[in-house]
Amino acid sequence: MINTLSRPKIVSIGAGNIGATFAQYCAEMSLGDILLLDIVEGLPQGKALDLAQASSIRGYSVRIMGSNDFSDMKDADIVVVSAGFPRKPGMSRLDLLEKNGKIISEICENIKSYAPNSIVIIITNPLDIMVQLAYHILGFPPKRVMGMAGILDSARMSLFVASELEIDPTQVNAMVLGSHGDLMVPLPDYTCVNGIPITQLLSKEKIEKIIERTRKGGAEIVSLLKTGSAYYAPSASAVRMVKAILQDEKSVLPCAVYANGEYQITGYFVGLPCVLGRVGVEKIIELPLTQEKLKELHYSVEEVKQGIKQLRELGFPIPQ
Ligand code: APR
Repeated sequence: MINTLSRPKIVSIGAGNIGATFAQYCAEMSLGDILLLDIVEGLPQGKALDLAQASSIRGYSVRIMGSNDFSDMKDADIVVVSAGFPRKPGMSRLDLLEKNGKIISEICENIKSYAPNSIVIIITNPLDIMVQLAYHILGFPPKRVMGMAGILDSARMSLFVASELEIDPTQVNAMVLGSHGDLMVPLPDYTCVNGIPITQLLSKEKIEKIIERTRKGGAEIVSLLKTGSAYYAPSASAVRMVKAILQDEKSVLPCAVYANGEYQITGYFVGLPCVLGRVGVEKIIELPLTQEKLKELHYSVEEVKQGIKQLRELGFPIPQ
């Protein structure tokens, strides 16, 4: 019998493209035992069994299970939610609002009942709005509720910088703040190649092009795939957060977190650099921003506020 007592329990709600890829990366990194949960009968069980059957070949000994029973998430350390509809070509993340709002509400009621001490990471779009909804339904402290987006947007920017400079993407450290949408705020001043700001390596025009492509990074993939949205990089980004939390890394990563006065934003979730450790969001790092970038950040929060207002008007329980 395998001893699972010392391993963290990671729950992935949604066993679709993101949920399953997330589980695969977690297994490959032996981050903990993994439970895939989904409403489609057989889907999480089938994918879990398939992944488990790769254990002896890929060299992981974590336990991977699948279920349709939400009570199985009992004692979860971390719950990652990617359940919901992905975008189709021509759809904005906001188009998903009502449909995914209902799914997130139902799931968060279950997390509240069965995994009340867990840390919750939301991936479902429209991201910043879904995290805010999750936060109000869960009633957890803000440090235990967060959204995955900034790492993904920054990773996309890193790749585009690396491609332009014809260098290794792992040498590029990009920083993208704000909402996960067209109004995200890529920060070239805080984007470096091994410590060298890209403003010293690339022309203004080239940086502008990279920023534009980063803003549309998700849509570019949607238009190529036609039947769904990105999942390898989104899953990898969520795994990065899970590793930082479970291994108490205190890594500085951009995540959708609850701002309480930081950057002059209060009461909203938006992408900001934060320190992730075993308790969740340990602190938000306040970078000095130019007036222009601060304005862009506030503008992106306005979009989040609009979405939250729409949810409220649709009857979702989000207080004023
Ligand atoms: N509870 C559990 N699982 C659910 C529920 C629910 N209430 N509703 C839907 N699901 C499951 C579906 O059965 C499906 O298996 O969510 C899964 C979604 O998987 P995909 O359709 O493959 O979508 P994916 O690409 O994984 O994206 C999911 O993440 O990035 C966002 O925009 C994306 O909102 C989308 C989400």
